[in-house]
Amino acid sequence: MDKRPIGIFDSGIGGLTVLAQIEKLLPKENIVYIGDTKNFPYGEKTKEEIIEFSIKNVEKLIEKNAKIIVIACGTATSQSLEVLKKKFEIPIIGIIEPTVEEIKKKNIEKIGVIATEGTIRSNAWEKALKKDIEKIEVVNKACPLLANIAEEGKAKSQESRQAIKEYMKPFKANEVKTIILGCTHYPIYEEIIQEEMERKVELINTGNAVAKFVKQYLENNNLQNIEEDNVKQEIYLSKDEETFKENAEKILERKIITKKII
Ligand code: DGL
Repeated sequence: MDKRPIGIFDSGIGGLTVLAQIEKLLPKENIVYIGDTKNFPYGEKTKEEIIEFSIKNVEKLIEKNAKIIVIACGTATSQSLEVLKKKFEIPIIGIIEPTVEEIKKKNIEKIGVIATEGTIRSNAWEKALKKDIEKIEVVNKACPLLANIAEEGKAKSQESRQAIKEYMKPFKANEVKTIILGCTHYPIYEEIIQEEMERKVELINTGNAVAKFVKQYLENNNLQNIEEDNVKQEIYLSKDEETFKENAEKILERKIITKKII
């Protein structure tokens, strides 16, 4: 039994798609979230910069008394997870390993990955998939505009539809039937992607796999919170963003309060 919060971070609102799955599966857990809006977007940053931002986020979550850290960001997972695991003693979970664990059970021969430039450049998804699933074919596509459009609150715009039309071309051409949403901002686009792909694809939302993984980890290590009352959630931003609250409330389907992190 451990009442300390689960610490979660992302560059912005994307990680809330992971938080949403965690709170659904683990409703008794306290949560502290950091959206590193000051340094958004991570997808265009160098590996060194992403490591630096990730270290700061983990340090701040430890200051907030987190018992476990979830990197709810594909870009940070792909480029900083290994460094963070070596540097900190606190358990740290990224989005790739839990998702690949779930995909392994599915018997898939060909899979698509959409993610930020940085994530695709790192090849982290393809490496992790091929390590565990022998003959899997991976079709990668960087979608540099999508995280930015989502963060601006324009996910349902003509601009996003146009971008998605373009980004889906390799999956249509290669008859890909399963696509990993390798950036945590992308579940916001599930409906538009499904429309563009004529509902012939399965989209993998990493939040589901991450939530299951966290639940299992907490149980195995006796870290769950079993108290029903006063479940607390805190959402911190490194820079105040006018649009954040409104966008976040759409994702979480409820009102939230954000605070500035120092
Ligand atoms: N949500 C993030 C990801 O999963 C990052 C988007 C960005 O900051 O570029 O990759």
